[in-house]
Amino acid sequence: MGKVTISIIKADIGGIPGHSWVHPKTLEFASERLADAQKKGLIIDYYVFSCGDDMSLLMTHTKGENSPDIHGLAWDIFKEATENISKKLKLYGAGQDLLKDTFSGNVRGMGPQVAEMEIEERPSEPIIVIAADKTEPGAFNLPLFRMFADPFTTSGLVIDPEMHEGFKFEILDVYEGRVYLLDVPERMYDVFALIGTPGRYIVRRVYRKKDLLQASVISVERLNLIAGKYVGKDDPVGIIRAQHGLPAVGEILEAFAYPHLVAGWMRGSHTGPLMPCKMEKVIPEKKIAIGPKATRFDGPPRVVALGFVLHDGVLEGPVDLFDDPAFDYSRLIAEFVTDYIRRMGPMMPHRLPPEEMEYTTLPKVLASLKFIPQEEYEKDRWKYLRGEA
Ligand code: F6R
Ligand code: MG
Ligand code: MG
Repeated sequence: MGKVTISIIKADIGGIPGHSWVHPKTLEFASERLADAQKKGLIIDYYVFSCGDDMSLLMTHTKGENSPDIHGLAWDIFKEATENISKKLKLYGAGQDLLKDTFSGNVRGMGPQVAEMEIEERPSEPIIVIAADKTEPGAFNLPLFRMFADPFTTSGLVIDPEMHEGFKFEILDVYEGRVYLLDVPERMYDVFALIGTPGRYIVRRVYRKKDLLQASVISVERLNLIAGKYVGKDDPVGIIRAQHGLPAVGEILEAFAYPHLVAGWMRGSHTGPLMPCKMEKVIPEKKIAIGPKATRFDGPPRVVALGFVLHDGVLEGPVDLFDDPAFDYSRLIAEFVTDYIRRMGPMMPHRLPPEEMEYTTLPKVLASLKFIPQEEYEKDRWKYLRGEA
């Protein structure tokens, strides 16, 4: 067969209770609608899964990236699920990520997150689909660097001639709309000069340098920049290809063993560890995988990883890759860090710095506070203290 496109389109269209979990009925609804689309020949295959309060529609098709048909299908499903399930059941934040009313051919800039990759299927095409909740797309910067550029994570960079030349990182500045193309390992320090600021610079795509084979893609939509106000963090999704001259499945997963600190969590305003989580339940006959729920302090931030093998666009899987005792220790560290950092309460650096609070509700609180110019106050502070001024 020719090229196949893998698309993940994700949105939070209502949680139960609060921002913690996707209702299984929402997942079932989406799965039924995608089954119809498959019968009509619009898509080759699909899977519906969740992480926290976000529902992801994973689809394979031959229509390429940014297809109005595929984006329209996802948009309609989110809209209908909002009307038929979220609103009827009064789920919390019904339709919260659907920021625009009318669909105009592409869901980018309308609220949902999108990660898409058109590929030529290799003789065997193992892929890992990742999704995180209560954090932002830049949360994947460090793990992506680790898997594609750090020989302490990916020994293939040293051992496998296919990977030895390294990778090309495509980094997006989401504020200025600039793209940086940097080769690793040569430009490693420049890469960190950018991606160490994950709220602004995002490793969007990675290519194998020797033949420009695309190895990964991450969603980059910034809801707050679209809406101009706080509408939740932009919980990211991504697709990573594995094996045979790319990082092995285990090298990709190894990059998540250390639960690094990311921005998000409660009210999108706190720093916390990114915990690798297993799914609550995979229901193959319904093609749904019910993800973990966000609990403590609406979190902590979490990531799930589902493995598939593609055959002519058909999704064989999923395999719930963090469902293994090998990741229990990472979860334990994440719990420890959670407990440690939570004791800081509303103080920085647990609470995010002011620039990152710009789109939250904190500016409203600050604007309501009365103040006295310092010079006036120092002239006669007792007058102010006694409440006489
Ligand atoms: C974070 C998130 C939640 C909410 C929090 C308050 O991305 O969605 O932590 O910010 O539950 O939600 P509201 O203001 O809707 O009560
Ligand atoms: Mg939510
Ligand atoms: Mg979410």
